[in-house]
Amino acid sequence: MKSSSGLILGIETSCDETAAAVVRRGTEILSNTVASQIAVHLPYGGVVPELASREHLRNILPVARESLKAAGVGYGEIDAVAVTEGPGLAGALLVGISFAKSLAIAMGKPLIAVNHLEGHIHAVLLDRAKGASAMDGNTFEGQLPGQPVLALVVSGGHTHLYLSEYAEGAWKYRNVGRTVDDAAGEAFDKVAKLLGLGYPGGPWIDTLAPHGNPEAVPFTFSQIKAKVHRKGVPEALDPAESVYFSFSGIKTAMLRYTKVYEMGVSIDARRAALAEMEDPKPADALRLCDRRTLDLIASFQRSVVDDLRRKTFRAAERFGVEGVIVSGGVAANRELRVRFTAEAAERDVAIAFPSMALSTDNAAMIAAAAWPKLVVGQFAEEGLTAEPGLPLGR
Ligand code: KG4
Ligand code: ZN
Repeated sequence: MKSSSGLILGIETSCDETAAAVVRRGTEILSNTVASQIAVHLPYGGVVPELASREHLRNILPVARESLKAAGVGYGEIDAVAVTEGPGLAGALLVGISFAKSLAIAMGKPLIAVNHLEGHIHAVLLDRAKGASAMDGNTFEGQLPGQPVLALVVSGGHTHLYLSEYAEGAWKYRNVGRTVDDAAGEAFDKVAKLLGLGYPGGPWIDTLAPHGNPEAVPFTFSQIKAKVHRKGVPEALDPAESVYFSFSGIKTAMLRYTKVYEMGVSIDARRAALAEMEDPKPADALRLCDRRTLDLIASFQRSVVDDLRRKTFRAAERFGVEGVIVSGGVAANRELRVRFTAEAAERDVAIAFPSMALSTDNAAMIAAAAWPKLVVGQFAEEGLTAEPGLPLGR
């Protein structure tokens, strides 16, 4: 790899964003193009897999072309193509994989398979490396706050904790925590839908929460405590050592609350008012929410953020890490950033988040995660296919 410029074209189509990016040597983003499908799935209040595949098919070529153009790079200058192998929606993943495979074959360049979750972790490493002065170009060593790092990947599909360590030219991950039911982002999405807000729900709740009292509705801790003994313990995780999250309880508690306080009529009115607007934004919902609704939203967000914070830092202490990184769509949440940052300062633990643009799904993080693999020649098999349930690490 020494003689080449280390340009990787990343492709990401695991869920509802068609994305392509050109990244040099895992750290320098030359372009980062994302075609969002939010408008397509909006009427359904969630991602419709068939529509996602169709949109990816429609967008993948223009998005890749646009990304190369924005980077000022020709197809011939790319050293490798990296693509998300999983986890994600099977049909959606397949569009990206087929495209990346054809491109790699046509250009005679290697194809690199990347785990989407590893991509989210690298979104943070990418940002950190960007700001680091002493880059040796091949590794991220020296940019990290000390290893291993504890990574919380918190998105619409995942709430996972990984002990992450760089050794002998490769990143190694150990899964030490996960949700037993809904992902945290899924809870934001479902609660926003329940309250007649827009999709995806995270940014709506994030915008409205500061206008309510987060202590108004005391969701007790047991409602978001993992019922591991009832759900069965997953093989991979040692129950004595692992951290479990659960977000279905608070979702049900929210539903019950709206029933007890007969909020149905005002929720329907809000939903109808937003449906009438051309392109409703989260801030438009503020005047459509009464005090009780705002307090409920603030209390929900505080409970979820605090549960994530408590369990993450408890794990950080247990595993003796010096640094915590938080990534995935929910890492864009402002209250989460504030409260995690405060706790990290209190405990004297380093903390890092991706920039807002790299928090949600993108292809720059895929190209960045592929760089150490390109350096050591770890390429995809010819038979590479979509792995919807692909785990990360052991
Ligand atoms: O990482 P991502 O783009 O896709 C997945 O891999 O799932 O994450 C999307 C999730 C959605 O559930 C969305 O509601 C949530 O991230 N999200 C947020 C915020 N922005 C996006 N959740 C809380 N606060 C936000 N500001
Ligand atoms: Zn994601």
